[in-house]
Amino acid sequence: MEFVNVTINDKLLSVPKGITILAAAVSGGIRIPTLCTIKMLNPRANCGICVVEVEGGRTYKPACVTRVSEGMVVRTDTPALRKSRKTTLELLLSRHAVDCHHCLRIGSSKCEDLDPKFCEMCFFCDCVRDGFCELQTLAREYKVDALPYEMEPYKYEIDSSTGSIVRNPNKCIKCRRCSDICNSVQTVHALNVINRGSEIMVTTEGQKRHADSSCVQCGRCVQSCPTGALFFKEHIDALLYNTHNYDITTIAQISSGVLEELSTLFKFGSSELDIRIVAAGLRKIGVDYVLTDDFASAKAINAAASALADKIKRDKKSPIIITDSYAAAKFMKHNFADFSELLLNYASPQQEFGKYAKTVFAAEKQLVTKNIRTISIVSDNENAAEAVENGSVDFVVNARELYRIFLRTGVNPKRIHPSELDSFGSIENSYVQFGKLFAPVTWEVGNNTEKLDLYIGNTNVKAAVAKNLGQVRELLTEVKNGISPYNVVRINA
Ligand code: SF4
Ligand code: SF4
Ligand code: FES
Repeated sequence: MEFVNVTINDKLLSVPKGITILAAAVSGGIRIPTLCTIKMLNPRANCGICVVEVEGGRTYKPACVTRVSEGMVVRTDTPALRKSRKTTLELLLSRHAVDCHHCLRIGSSKCEDLDPKFCEMCFFCDCVRDGFCELQTLAREYKVDALPYEMEPYKYEIDSSTGSIVRNPNKCIKCRRCSDICNSVQTVHALNVINRGSEIMVTTEGQKRHADSSCVQCGRCVQSCPTGALFFKEHIDALLYNTHNYDITTIAQISSGVLEELSTLFKFGSSELDIRIVAAGLRKIGVDYVLTDDFASAKAINAAASALADKIKRDKKSPIIITDSYAAAKFMKHNFADFSELLLNYASPQQEFGKYAKTVFAAEKQLVTKNIRTISIVSDNENAAEAVENGSVDFVVNARELYRIFLRTGVNPKRIHPSELDSFGSIENSYVQFGKLFAPVTWEVGNNTEKLDLYIGNTNVKAAVAKNLGQVRELLTEVKNGISPYNVVRINA
């Protein structure tokens, strides 16, 4: 690989030829603010925040798309650049619905007066991203405390038609992260960019309601949105009503995947938040039983493993497509409807939890089923979509929502003692021979499917595990074309 020398903020760096200034800066530990770039996807320079000065250049250059060259000298944080970024932020904010704490203060106070802690607890703001919005963070950093431009009126309706994903175009800054994820990675093409100039908009094809679009509710666009333009529907009031009601028994299951995000939100540094502290916090707000997802996951996998072993023995059709992902199954139904005979759709840990809590556990504890409310605390949105669709649990809460619930109810995980979790019992793991086939999958950009070579009984099984919907499309297209080398294909969204 060929390297070039560049100087960024007086720091001499040797970096691979052809990378962007942004990538070079990151490799040298130099921060350049960004709003539209997503790691691993081709940058498009939509937001204008990452501008830098390149010696000899007549204009500022967007660091996310400008390639380094030998001897290049770059400055990333001069007073002129800060002014330019501030103007960009003022323009973005003047076209952005004003209902976070920072926005409320614009024009009447200085943003350094804001105590971020108070801001995060604010009851006046109704933006779910208040306190962790990338636009708000930059507005604070660049001291945008008055807007010289006229505010645009809110002109778009909020779309909550899916019951899980909410779209508020009034808060959209047109960064296009969502449409890039939906189109380039997930290959769903539910989101498009329409119009030009000040009328530009990111919306569904034909501007349909989200529920009527081709969206499969994987939730990946929501995770990428830097503002409150896309978010998961919250149920804070309804949830607290139930936990505070003595006639209702609430049972919560915490998925271990949520702990890392919660640790970051509560600023636990590198040490991960102890699940027993989260359990103590949940008990403080009135949740009656708190469990890990170990039992439900093992139960779900045991059932899936035995169904798969059976299908391999009985069924001559190949490959067998397996999934517990609501969004992946929906994607397959939309795009590869002919494959329904190949599909083994097994219950997710959330479904197993909801069912077990209201049947076996309810009987053991002599609880009245109709008075039980189940709460699934997870990091993936497709769980919320699944619950809306088939009622697997009563509430799905993600890390951010739990964070907001704890702030509002005064639960400080740094000040409470851990409390032991409840249990549904222990369960034997009977799926060792399936190796990583049923292991939790982390979604990622790219096309590296996981390949597995297994022995199930005496049968050699070649399997592939997809980590995003683009990979699902690729694997299922191979099946369609009769060239799939796999006996089992696991699809995830
Ligand atoms: S939820 Fe998934 S399929 Fe739906 S718009 Fe977002 S990225 Fe696309
Ligand atoms: S909805 Fe969010 S991610 Fe999509 S373009 Fe708007 S601000 Fe960006
Ligand atoms: S990050 Fe470069 S223009 Fe948005």
